[in-house]
Amino acid sequence: MDEPSVTGPLRDAAGEGIIHTRALTKRYRGGQLAVDGLDLTVPAGSVFGFLGPNGSGKTTTIRMLMGLIEPTSGTAHVLGHPMPRATRAVLPHVGALIEGPALYGFLSGRDNLLRYDSADPSADPRTRRARVAAALDRVGLAAAAGKKAKAYSLGMKQRLGLAAALLQPRRLLVLDEPTNGLDPQGMREIRALIRELASDGTTVFLSSHLLDEIEQVCTHAAVMAQGRLITQGTVADLAAGMRGRLVVTTPDTADAARVLKERGVGDVAVTEDGVTGEPPEGELAELNAALVAAGVRVRGFGVERASLEDAFVALTGEGFDVAG
Ligand SMILES: Nc1ncnc2c1ncn2[C@@H]1O[C@H](COP(=O)(O)OP(=O)(O)O)[C@@H](O)[C@H]1O
Ligand SMILES: [Mg+2]
Repeated sequence: MDEPSVTGPLRDAAGEGIIHTRALTKRYRGGQLAVDGLDLTVPAGSVFGFLGPNGSGKTTTIRMLMGLIEPTSGTAHVLGHPMPRATRAVLPHVGALIEGPALYGFLSGRDNLLRYDSADPSADPRTRRARVAAALDRVGLAAAAGKKAKAYSLGMKQRLGLAAALLQPRRLLVLDEPTNGLDPQGMREIRALIRELASDGTTVFLSSHLLDEIEQVCTHAAVMAQGRLITQGTVADLAAGMRGRLVVTTPDTADAARVLKERGVGDVAVTEDGVTGEPPEGELAELNAALVAAGVRVRGFGVERASLEDAFVALTGEGFDVAG
């Protein structure tokens, strides 16, 4: 195979993005169209969330980006180079954690990393022990470094996987559902670690089926459904593009719903402790006054900020099934 050599810095080539795909498509041998015409642009320095329910094509996309599988059609560039053709040149600059780390349970965390690093031809054996120690320290596993990996909790295993991705300075980290299966505390730890990694300029591409995770951690996001890209942009723009919802908290839901409808509020829905609807164009205070005048006991009144979930629902007409 003819491989381009990587000379000079790997850059966000011509502002095209650290990751750039055009019409990227994967149809598996069984006929499953897993990724369908994906145009993705991941800006340098972003923490980019790749959001979609289970089965929406995230892992398939990541495997194409990492040169692990061939696209059926379309192109993928990573660090300005075509994949999978430039896999060997590109991968030393990319730290990846895909579908959980492959660990040897009978080896300690430290020995797993030493072994992993020695399998990397671009890794310098002279600095190996120091780099392994630094990576373990970075993910908070220094004290547990001598323990066998099979005694690690799931969260510790994920952190060890992250440490493996951090053995060398990386231009890009690709993390496929890094918090999957973790308890809330483990999730918080991994998210904090990702934020910290991103704060020194590394571009992070992370997939998740959890909306709130993307909102908490990412600067940018792309939303996938059934192999297709629904939208991409900054997290702020994606949410801001959506109007929030009017939320009235009241025990008098029937009366409140009637008044809102009379006042022309659209999409009125009764909830457990109130009524919601589309925010009105006009003055909010007048609407509140009308409710009060009709004898509705208003305990809360306001417009809730739109979330990525609202964006997802608006764009797909479907709820976002968090359980996948
Ligand atoms: N090796 C494979 N062979 C056939 N179909 C696959 C394979 N891997 C994944 N798929 C199918 O492709 C679709 C996308 O899967 P995947 O990329 O794993 O989604 P996600 O990572 O978003 O959960 C799913 O319908 C899945 O069943
Ligand atoms: Mg997946």
